[in-house]
This record gives sequence, C-alpha cells and structure tokens, in this order.
Amino acid sequence: MSSVAELLSQAREAALEDAPLLLAHVLDKDRSWLLAWPEYQLQPSELRQYEQLLKRRQQGEPLAYLTGRKEFWSVELEVSPDVLIPRPETELLVAQALELGLPDQTRILELGTGSGAIAIALGGERPDWTITATDISSAALDIARKNILKQGRSNIRLAQGHWYEAVPHGHKYQLILSNPPYVAADDPHLLEDGLPWEPPQALGAGSDGLADLRTIISAAPAHLLPAGWLLVEHGFDQGRAVRKLFTKAGFTRVLTRRDLGGQDRVTLGCYPPSS
Ligand SMILES: C[S@@+](CC[C@H](N)C(=O)[O-])C[C@H]1O[C@@H](n2cnc3c(N)ncnc32)[C@H](O)[C@@H]1O
Repeated sequence: MSSVAELLSQAREAALEDAPLLLAHVLDKDRSWLLAWPEYQLQPSELRQYEQLLKRRQQGEPLAYLTGRKEFWSVELEVSPDVLIPRPETELLVAQALELGLPDQTRILELGTGSGAIAIALGGERPDWTITATDISSAALDIARKNILKQGRSNIRLAQGHWYEAVPHGHKYQLILSNPPYVAADDPHLLEDGLPWEPPQALGAGSDGLADLRTIISAAPAHLLPAGWLLVEHGFDQGRAVRKLFTKAGFTRVLTRRDLGGQDRVTLGCYPPSS
C-alpha cells in the first residue's frame, strides 16, 4: 500500500513534476484534494494505473494524452492521439479573429479543426456567429463533436474533407481561419517534445512546411465574401513566405502578428483589395 503523501514525496525526490497531476487524474480528484488527504491509501488498481501513466510520461508521452484533457481559451477540451494537442500560441489566432470586430451573424469557416479548440473558443465568445469547422480526419471530428456537445456550442457544424472540398461549392464566408500543418517533413523537432505521439497529418506539410498553407491561401479568395478575411497560423520562421503567398493571392492589409514569445505566428489579410 502507498499513501498520497508517500507518492508525492517520491515524485518530488525524482523531480517528476507531472506526477501530482497524474495522481489526481487516477483518483479522479483535483490537486487540492491530494493536499487535503495525504493519508489516503491507494487501492492496488489505482497504484498500478498511476505507475503505468508515470512510466509513459517518463518515456515522453504528452501529459494531455495521458489525462485526455487540455485547456484552451479557458475551456477544458477532451483530447486523444487522434488530435493535435491545442497550443497556447493558437489562442493568438482566436484573439485576432475577435479583434477584427466582425458583425453579428458572421459566417466563419475553420479549416482543420482537430479537437475543435478554435471553433469552440470563437463560438463561445460570439454565439451569434455561425461556424463551419472541417477536418480530413473522421477520428478528429469525433473528438471535436464530443467537445462541441459538451460545451453546448449549437452555432458550430462539422464537415469532413480535404480543405475547401469539405464545404459546398459556392458557399462563402466573412472569415476563414486555420492552424494547418506547417512543419517541414525533415524538421528534427518532429522527433522531440512529444511530437512523435501526435497525429502526423496534423504536423507535417511537405518539404518546406508550406504545402497546406499554399493550398489554403491560394484558394481562399474563391470562398470569401467581399472584404472577407483570412487568418492563418504558421511557423516562427514562415512569416515572410506566408505574407508573400497572401499578396500573390491578391490580399491587402497583410500583416503578421507575433505570439507571446515574440515569434511571428499569425498572418492575416483582407480580400478583395479594399479601396
Ligand atoms: C495543426 S492541426 C490543428 C488542429 C486544431 N485546429 C488546433 O489548432 O489545435 C491541423 C489539422 O488539420 C487537419 N488536416 C490535415 N490535412 C488536412 C486536409 N488536407 N484537409 C483538412 N484538414 C486537414 C489535421 O487532421 C489536423 O486536425
């Protein structure tokens, strides 16, 4: 038998910083409960589950996949290895979309929704907007559907398909946004920081990481209402290339925003050219 206090003390000595979160997850409690009940003795099955999760964490598996949860824009989302773990820097895409000050009843298209993080954040902030969120992966859409239902976002609908093929021909939107895959196929980061556990189709985008951004940007004008906006997330070193793609596609007011780390992260532009 092991108590909560003993396990927390062992974790501290071994510098296993996620251990309290895993222990709280196994016991289905929050971290404050661990402090309130240090003498609680774990059942053998609880101890076994905790030790297995700790081992997987030590082997590099991301915490969010072990607990099945990740917070984004103050919403707790369900995640699984079928979806990218939503990143804090993607909140910049949400913030920029809100800053455009678009009117009520705006029609939005989010391409590559994964867990539904971006659509759910926007749908919560602007219940009057209608959001179509797409993905190529049916497994990802299953997770997004669960999250949308759990958050009660009745203004979001889901569609499956390759980028714009997911939506009916001729449908146009005031805002299209996307956090597409943007990592180059040979980028060594793909082998680090838990990325090997994440879905490859959510990360890799051809030899220069721009393959999906090219498709999304070049085809966006055909899917935008007059003076519509396109917002995309991209890699810290892709700002210049992405701005060029926007300009080539006919966008104006093209600019790149930096994330909290001071890195180029989101580029936006308006179409067609405003006079
Ligand atoms: C970087 S993840 C972003 C997920 C989520 N929007 C987020 O920010 O956490 C990219 C998403 O695009 C989807 N995707 C990849 N290729 C696609 C394609 N050809 N058409 C539509 N979605 C695609 C992936 O399945 C994945 O869910």
